[in-house]
Amino acid sequence: MGGGEQATQKQAAMGKLTARERVQELLDADSFHEYDLFVEHTCNDFDMDKKRLPADGVITGTGMIGGHPVSVFAQDFTVAGGSLGLAHARKITKVMDHALKMGMPLIGINDSGGARIQEGVNSLAGYGEIFYRNTIASGVIPQLSVILGPCAGGAVYSPALTDFVFVVDKISKMFITGPEVIKTVLGEEISMEDLGGARVQTEITGNAHFFAESEMECMGQIKRLLTFIPWSNKAPALALPPRPPKVSFDIERIIPPEANKPYDIRDVIRSIVDNSDFLEVQERWASNIVIGFARIEGQTVGIVGNQPLVMAGVLDVDSSDKAARFIRYCDAFNIPLVTLVDLPGYLPGVDQEHAGVIRHGAKLLYSYSEATVPKITVILRKAYGGGYIAMCSRHLGADFVFAWPTAEIAVMGPEGAANIIFRNEIQTAANPDEMRKKKVQEYSEKFANPYIAAANGHIDAVIPPSETRASIVHSLRVSTNKTEIRPTRKHGIPPF
Ligand code: HXC
Repeated sequence: MGGGEQATQKQAAMGKLTARERVQELLDADSFHEYDLFVEHTCNDFDMDKKRLPADGVITGTGMIGGHPVSVFAQDFTVAGGSLGLAHARKITKVMDHALKMGMPLIGINDSGGARIQEGVNSLAGYGEIFYRNTIASGVIPQLSVILGPCAGGAVYSPALTDFVFVVDKISKMFITGPEVIKTVLGEEISMEDLGGARVQTEITGNAHFFAESEMECMGQIKRLLTFIPWSNKAPALALPPRPPKVSFDIERIIPPEANKPYDIRDVIRSIVDNSDFLEVQERWASNIVIGFARIEGQTVGIVGNQPLVMAGVLDVDSSDKAARFIRYCDAFNIPLVTLVDLPGYLPGVDQEHAGVIRHGAKLLYSYSEATVPKITVILRKAYGGGYIAMCSRHLGADFVFAWPTAEIAVMGPEGAANIIFRNEIQTAANPDEMRKKKVQEYSEKFANPYIAAANGHIDAVIPPSETRASIVHSLRVSTNKTEIRPTRKHGIPPF
């Protein structure tokens, strides 16, 4: 089956597996049940009535991964470039409907030249029917898109509507308008790789969530993700026996004594989660914030942490977008949220203001406030200004807020604050530098600690780092029956 010997060889020469090989690699052995093998197009234009397109260029069906059911489709580039006509689209929508009805994940493998040009508006209709279902299924079942070839034109909008996008170096290419159009319209030359290759989509645009060096590595990433996430919004994620973090991560020694020295927030994460096992999402983009899945006492949690290693962990347009969407994902699938806070605030500057940091930053406030899953926050070091509020503060509905003794909770950092509120005293002092130092010190002693917030009940307890895991474990245990009633509404209007 497929598009014949020559097309299959061409596929292999590009370092790509065939659609059928991909399905086999992804699913448990002998678990694939194929549907609609004999469905083909009914188009008569442009001599299409003389063209046989086996399986209409897409393989669809259901199978198992790790013994759990999934719906899959895999576009077959060897058949008319995997282009999407109406029959091809209807095969896909059939497995989408199955996935939604049965409550199982949908995994789509994309390798296609886009809308089948000969079928005209019928191809567009097919895409529309897919986008509609992507949207209806959003937050009900997990939807995973795997880009293993071109994903051109409007075709990119199906992956963009799904939860997680997987790409492979040198193989994946995603773009709305291709190099030829860009050359015609703008006179600019660019390769497909530089326009929308795997690195571009994971490092610059944030469109893709997981980057792999090979198709096999990509399949492994999909299977690993599926061990962490629930398989529908009605089922809990797979629970594993609890395991302590590895002893090599000593939580007491991660934060440097100097307040401005960076450290890797992932070390903190690994020192509190089961077996120190952390699956980072969108690792290569907006890395001033870290998001991902882990387990605590065997149960999946979603983790959001500022990353002091990158731009001191500030919030900006991209990191707000990244975290906000992840929080909504966790909330939709009933995954408790653990937030680790260490940030100097929002990134100042004209670029950020003009890029819409107000609108994007608001997404973070919205998604934390909207989320009704258990929300646990630990303030490690800096929590200044809007950043303090935005990073799942008590005021946005955090259920449990802990702070380490190193926490500094204030409207802004001591330097900036002292310069403003003691401006006159500093300017008129005989030695302004001395006076500034004294005032910074005075401000630090008063505010750069967690005790004022603790005295006001904004945090529940000041804990040593070594008690972090135990505090989170206890919080999760007592929140298993959490319910939070919200006013009836059709839906809110988030700032996107
Ligand atoms: C019909 C297509 C096709 C398409 C490729 N083929 N794309 N047939 N409709 N959209 C066919 C080719 O004619 C060829 O057939 C075979 O697939 C393999 O294609 P090649 O061009 O030989 O492959 P390659 O050199 O690897 O280039 C791949 C490609 C290129 C970069 C994807 O084919 C390409 O640019 N295709 C068009 C991409 C595009 O602009 N699509 C429409 C976007 S508009 P033979 O018979 O020779 O083997 C769109 C609107 C959707 O998608 C809107 C929804 C909202």
